[in-house]
Amino acid sequence: MYLGLDLGTSGVKAMLIDGNQKIIGSANGGLDVSRPHSGWSEQEPAHWIRATEEAVAGLKTAHPKELAAVRGIGLSGQMHGATLLDADDKVLRPCILWNDTRSYQEAAALDADPRFRTLTGNIVFPGFTAPKLAWVAKHEPDIFAKVRWVLLPKDYLRLWLTGEHMSEMSDSAGTSWLDTGKRKWSSQLLAATDLDEKQMPTLVEGTEAAGKLRGELASKWGIAGDVVVAGGAGDNAASACGMGTVSHGAAFVSLGTSGVLFAANGSYLPKPESAVHAFCHALPNTWHQMGVILSATDALNWHSGVTGKSASELTGELGDALKAPSGVTFLPYLSGERTPHNDATIRGAFIGLGHESGRAVLTQAVLEGVTFAIRDNLEALRSAGTDIARVTAIGGGSRSRYWLASIATALGVPVDLPADGDFGAAFGAARLGLIAATGADPVAVCTPPETAGTIEPVTALTGAYEDAYKRYRALYPAIKPLSI
Ligand code: XUL
Repeated sequence: MYLGLDLGTSGVKAMLIDGNQKIIGSANGGLDVSRPHSGWSEQEPAHWIRATEEAVAGLKTAHPKELAAVRGIGLSGQMHGATLLDADDKVLRPCILWNDTRSYQEAAALDADPRFRTLTGNIVFPGFTAPKLAWVAKHEPDIFAKVRWVLLPKDYLRLWLTGEHMSEMSDSAGTSWLDTGKRKWSSQLLAATDLDEKQMPTLVEGTEAAGKLRGELASKWGIAGDVVVAGGAGDNAASACGMGTVSHGAAFVSLGTSGVLFAANGSYLPKPESAVHAFCHALPNTWHQMGVILSATDALNWHSGVTGKSASELTGELGDALKAPSGVTFLPYLSGERTPHNDATIRGAFIGLGHESGRAVLTQAVLEGVTFAIRDNLEALRSAGTDIARVTAIGGGSRSRYWLASIATALGVPVDLPADGDFGAAFGAARLGLIAATGADPVAVCTPPETAGTIEPVTALTGAYEDAYKRYRALYPAIKPLSI
């Protein structure tokens, strides 16, 4: 048996699989985000542990025998968070999360140092880890002075699970301190933020062992014998392992809190000026590119909060048959945007409202706005040398057929839906646990799921979608000078 633990933004998911990768069960533990100021987004690392305990306890109740037979654990986690520890491994402040944009000035300053783009292959985005440390150094110098360790969220979970300070390549590529082509920490870049390699965890590949489960936890969970904890992966690379997106040409679109268009690459293909992320994959000698938008289902959830209707009620009102864009356009920049704009201060908008624009029209515009943001990501990936012939859809938003038809039409590619099952980050993490514990061939383990159905582009609406996308493209530069 193998256990995948995915530390997401809204909760921890624990999933058990057997040696044939059959899903035995899964359980969750909930998490909240604290937003004390505009643009801030934080979590207490202690809550991650509480949520993990809750999720594993759920598995223990439902599948005690199977949990007792676990031999390998894989970790996946929300990326980029800055978890700061002192010399006694005590947490110094709440973790500053991936969607926190307070450090945009520090990010711009680091990004102006050409070594960052050259060595990391990426823009220094405000959500990445290095500028957060620069922000802490400037605004909380007493805390910065005490920083002994900088860990990513899932690696803090590993510390609790194993007692080890370790990380792996895919998540570390999102810190702005990794030499992404060479897959090692850059002492130059660390020094540029007054840090040292000694403050960083030891690196392994995601498929390699990175610690053993502490005896105390093993006995609490009813496990006898050694349990290997794999390096694991950042949540996007972990989802890619779950979806079999590990070889050149494979791609997925994820409609979660954030939206991601992810493509696996057999070589390192950086193109920072496109705002495409070029990161190490969780498998050795493999990289990936992705475009990231900050609000995907988050945009629909915002609309749901405003209207007092659940997300499924709202999408249900649209029906399944795709409509031509109505002329109302929504820009989904509720917390700024990464790809392609790299703009922390821009905010969203509805444009083109009329007396006739009712709730369903606004819902349609929200879905289309996120869809067009993903089309922007496709254009960015294309400019970085990757074309996509088809994508598989994952994440909560992929439950809406309407949304998937909209994406297929705007991207002009078929969207595959995986057969029933849960092939996300927790499953990918469990696969990494299996590989680290057994030494199995990663590519042979990380196969794609069966396809339950394919949503083809609605070609009758391609022209209307292209026109609407052109309007969408024109709006960012138009509202940019007006943003406060
Ligand atoms: C990726 C990113 C998000 C988080 C969400 O760069 O910031 O996808 O990993 O958990």
